Amino acid sequence: MPYSPPTDTDTPTDPDTATDTTSCDTATAAPWSYLLNESTAHSYEQQITATAQHLADTIAHTKRPFTGVSPQSLAETLAGIDLEQPLHDTTAALTELESVYLNDAVYFHHPRYLAHLNCPTVIPAAVGETVLSTINSSLDTWEQSAGATLIEQRLIEWTTRRLQLGRAADGVFTSGGTQSNLQALLLARDETRHAMTDGSTDTGTGTDTAAQSALLPRLRILTSECSHFSVTKAASLLGMGADAVIAIPCDEERRMRPAALERALARCHEDGTVPMAVVATAGTTDFGSIDPLGEIAPTCAQWGVWLHVDAAYGGGLLASEHHRHLLDGISGADSVTVDYHKSFFQPLTASAVLVRDAATLRHVTYHADYLNPAARDGEQPVPNQVDKSIQTSRRFDALKLWLTLRVMGANQVGMLFDSVIDLAGRVWETLAADSRFDVVTRPQLSTLVFRYAPSEAPDAAADSTTAHAMNSAMDGAMDCVVDAAALDRANEYARDELAGSGEAVVASTVADGRTHLKFTLLNPRTTLGDVEQILDLLAGHAQHYLTTTAGTTRD
Ligand SMILES: Cc1ncc(COP(=O)(O)O)c(C=O)c1O
Repeated sequence: MPYSPPTDTDTPTDPDTATDTTSCDTATAAPWSYLLNESTAHSYEQQITATAQHLADTIAHTKRPFTGVSPQSLAETLAGIDLEQPLHDTTAALTELESVYLNDAVYFHHPRYLAHLNCPTVIPAAVGETVLSTINSSLDTWEQSAGATLIEQRLIEWTTRRLQLGRAADGVFTSGGTQSNLQALLLARDETRHAMTDGSTDTGTGTDTAAQSALLPRLRILTSECSHFSVTKAASLLGMGADAVIAIPCDEERRMRPAALERALARCHEDGTVPMAVVATAGTTDFGSIDPLGEIAPTCAQWGVWLHVDAAYGGGLLASEHHRHLLDGISGADSVTVDYHKSFFQPLTASAVLVRDAATLRHVTYHADYLNPAARDGEQPVPNQVDKSIQTSRRFDALKLWLTLRVMGANQVGMLFDSVIDLAGRVWETLAADSRFDVVTRPQLSTLVFRYAPSEAPDAAADSTTAHAMNSAMDGAMDCVVDAAALDRANEYARDELAGSGEAVVASTVADGRTHLKFTLLNPRTTLGDVEQILDLLAGHAQHYLTTTAGTTRD
């Protein structure tokens, strides 16, 4: 049917007579009946309420974190859906969504989801998510957001105050830790170039002078060997190349060695390269380790190097009564990344980059006549966040945190994070006492990296060669490299089998060159009992692998 624009007579204006698009009766609903406005507000309410009921039911009846569905199987179901044939019915579309998404989604709220840095979310934030997508403010300018801009600014101030960054601090919400790290390093790059050349990068023209271009290949970023890969990605995106990142060795607890940092800074000085930033991590992705900020910050100050602290994960300590001291020294940072969508129990996405000196944000300020023309002399400046952001249109993610703090308060958020940190301590004790597993390091936050590596043969029936080799592998004997590789495969197999069974989801990673398993504990409802059962399941799968497959697939 050809499209015909609405007229006064067929555009519903009375909320009581607005078209209801929840049911199949509306197969011929006019396109404007889907627009959210005063005439469709009632239909919106019905659909959102029905959806919330549906989701509440789904959450209430989720028995496992994952079904173990294969990508092929879901792809087949998805292929059966013809996107050219709309359903014109929200209920039908949600029912269809069950088959391609909801039934088999990975549910982070489930206490046996222990894989990555995905937190269960708090209800006030979910309410905030509904509000922000319904009102749909855009946080670039005041004229597109009004009070939303002020709320975001208050939350930035709240965060910088907890970081003790000082009165000149500022920042902006971003799409996540990757973007926050990128922006921080962009500011560090341009501050360095500004300091070392003629300063003409200030105005947001995007034009580099010859001197600034010549400096680029000499810039270096120093960060620990355990830092997040987004640091290297940022170096590439900023035109410096991945090679510009110097990896500083870590100690046994996976924290940057300050003496090694000192040496690396001195080497830069000697070889004529320019350390543009040190990136310390407060909560490494795998180990949850926190670099010694109290030692690193004075070193950076002494060398005049920008210190960025990636607290994407550890940022939640800002709300913690018991563990806030782990962030001591962070007040010496020039910039900080905080991911509220990790340890503040916020839905994706909610992150911020915070800076000690608001003036450094000028490096992302570009003026557009239609949006944020430069303020004229004598005019009262209008608050706007686009001047501080590398995005233009931007979600009001801050609202989720706002409602969380207004409903729960920061202490309660901190208590949730504290509880998983405490659980991680108990899990470490359990793992350290379990002869079936090796655990890499005692956690500062809430991750554990460990490996099935039994000190006894996995099974009396196992052939003696395998048993001997496995014992030797524990001792690190040279002739057992092959068997260490078998253990790698056994751990990987155990993780896959566990996820496939849907009983639990855990992650894997590589530590000291060997495959390890990883728990990321972010769910306060996960118990030690859950973890012990998961360990038994993992050990069972790994043992099965070694006694059935490994002996015949040695490489
Ligand atoms: C320490 C750290 N920094 C940065 C990131 C990237 O954050 P995002 O996934 O929000 O971009 C992560 C993600 O896990 C992280 O653990």
